[in-house]
Amino acid sequence: MNEDARRRRRRTPLRLRSGTNWAAQEPTWRQARPALIAAALKRAQARSGGNWFVVGASRSVAADGRPAGRTVAGTEIVLWRTSSGDLRAGPGACPHLGAPLRESRVVCGTLVCHWHGMALDGAPFAGWQPYPVHDDGVLVWVRLDRTGGEQSTDRPPPVRRPDPGGAVDAVVTVVGRCEPEDVVANRLDPWHGSWFHPYSFTDLRVISAPEGEQDEPFVVEVSFKVAGRLVVPVRAEFTAPGPRTVLMRITEGEGRTSVVETHATPLTPPGAAVPRTAVVEAVVAASDRSGFRLARSLAPALRPLMSRAAGRLWRDDLAYAERRWALRNAGTFPG
Ligand code: FES
Ligand SMILES: [Fe+2]
Repeated sequence: MNEDARRRRRRTPLRLRSGTNWAAQEPTWRQARPALIAAALKRAQARSGGNWFVVGASRSVAADGRPAGRTVAGTEIVLWRTSSGDLRAGPGACPHLGAPLRESRVVCGTLVCHWHGMALDGAPFAGWQPYPVHDDGVLVWVRLDRTGGEQSTDRPPPVRRPDPGGAVDAVVTVVGRCEPEDVVANRLDPWHGSWFHPYSFTDLRVISAPEGEQDEPFVVEVSFKVAGRLVVPVRAEFTAPGPRTVLMRITEGEGRTSVVETHATPLTPPGAAVPRTAVVEAVVAASDRSGFRLARSLAPALRPLMSRAAGRLWRDDLAYAERRWALRNAGTFPG
């Protein structure tokens, strides 16, 4: 490569990829061994999430006006912010006569029930007990000790993210008919990338995968398709820091240190005949390039685009997770 070509390479992360032929790719099914994926899933499930569940994006709980309502494992939850912006959370039914508090109002940081005016400031009151809640700047978590059945911790399992000052984040939520393990299993199968999502990925190679009892990350080389023949090649690692979370971190190439966090939060109680799970995916993108500084200033406009890209992948990945649950439920899951 001459100096000019090298300079061009440094200036742009984009590479030109000659036409890809979906059917001509190397099949990955031999490497994507069901037992290997099942072992990685089992290790993830053996970790403790400290009874913490992701409920959504930090910015989805507004500073004033309406509270936010969520359901986690059949438990109705209401969340709101105090006048200083701190989060509060607790049961979603009013302790007086059961009004849906998600439909109430927040007045000067206090939740005021719209049926008879009971005011909740977030402290225990009339039998209403708050839930521990955590805002990590991108996501909101609640701790449900009775639901989780794990050893509770003060904070959710830590995830290393790029410095928020130099990153753009977007959060997308989709809901599927499956259990959290089906979502985690999908993410612990990196081999499906360029077969199942050819519109987004090409040239995917799994460089290493955990063997036996090992607790190593999956290491993947892949090119993201940007437009036409333009691609961005990266190396990424997949790990499962908690039982309901899979983390993809870009370790080389454009966007190094960027993370995609996939959190699976059950909506229905354990053992529901038709389970539903929310996939809350946070993309925290970083880059050393000066162009990215401009992108940061455009973050409000970029966010919906990033969410749409993740949303398309997740429509397909949910089909995978739902199919996995349907076969498990019928007792016909292979492997
Ligand atoms: S139901 Fe909430 S105050 Fe009566
Ligand atoms: Fe996928």
